[in-house]
Amino acid sequence: MTDAGPERLRFAHLPTAIEEMPRLSAALGGPRLFVKRDDQTGLALGGNKTRKLEFLVAEAVAQGANLLISAGAIQSNHCRQTAAAAARYGLDCTLVLTGDMPVQASANFLLDTLLGVNVVNVPDRKDRDRVLGETFERASAEGKKPYLVPYGGSSPVGALGYAFAVEELMTQVGQGATGGSSPEWIVFGTSSGGTHAGLTLGKRLFGYPGSIMGVSIDESEAWLKNRVSSLASDASALLGPRIDFGPQDVTATDEYCAAGYGVFTAAEREAIGLFARHEGLLLDPVYTGRAAAGLVDMIRKGVFRKDETVLFWHTGGQPALFADRYAPQL
Ligand SMILES: Cc1ncc(COP(=O)(O)O)c(C=O)c1O
Repeated sequence: MTDAGPERLRFAHLPTAIEEMPRLSAALGGPRLFVKRDDQTGLALGGNKTRKLEFLVAEAVAQGANLLISAGAIQSNHCRQTAAAAARYGLDCTLVLTGDMPVQASANFLLDTLLGVNVVNVPDRKDRDRVLGETFERASAEGKKPYLVPYGGSSPVGALGYAFAVEELMTQVGQGATGGSSPEWIVFGTSSGGTHAGLTLGKRLFGYPGSIMGVSIDESEAWLKNRVSSLASDASALLGPRIDFGPQDVTATDEYCAAGYGVFTAAEREAIGLFARHEGLLLDPVYTGRAAAGLVDMIRKGVFRKDETVLFWHTGGQPALFADRYAPQL
């Protein structure tokens, strides 16, 4: 921390654009729709982790770290952006990646290798925490100064990226980017909770008046409400007096994740097709495809009134479209 608040590096391409999606809205007979393009944050094909990494890498550098260590699935977008941020600041990067190593590297994992990371493979996810801990300790014992970037970048420090994203949004709203009034709803995909927590804190700090609807990718609504409210509370304390958020301050639905993490179903396929064919917009198979499937279903069910405005917050992830695992199913 400095007197001016937490350290922050500036490498994201901000503000990200807001675009209207009139053809998608017409096709669904739905509310007015906008998309916020955080798939275009600039760091090695972008995505939501870049905003978090501005704060996380700043903390790492301030602590004198020379190695970033993080973990995720083989096709993790978070790990790809962490690898790029490490390269950009001259830090080494070790990624603990779960799942079977592909014979041929593709998509995010291919980019990890281009970005020069060391990979520690953990075939079974249940061993991930142990191997991550061992990897960190081994690096320290070898005299390196590692910094642990939390899963999904979702710590209180990482969440700050999305608190300030709401300040950015409110400025854009004031400039007329969403048609002269504030969107009643923000809809986006939520998983490790950092994006959700930041948006929840940012709503309070910067006066966003609408509802923030997180579409769960893989966790239960109850887990998310607890996780997001505690992360948002802890993040608030980094900026000033602590604000105590509770589960009642968090809006989430777990209606769209029954298939499990990364399992591609007809709902994601339809949503990806709708965005692509009506707006020329690309979603990803794991996160934004699922979040958009939730958006489409909620529009059809009449969750949003026709005179309301909904902002879909695009969190990136499109490199996974090219993964061997997903491309044949698209
Ligand atoms: C493309 C994309 N969208 C959404 C998320 C979920 O964000 P969070 O982990 O902050 O909940 C992720 C996380 O990896 C992601 O890669």
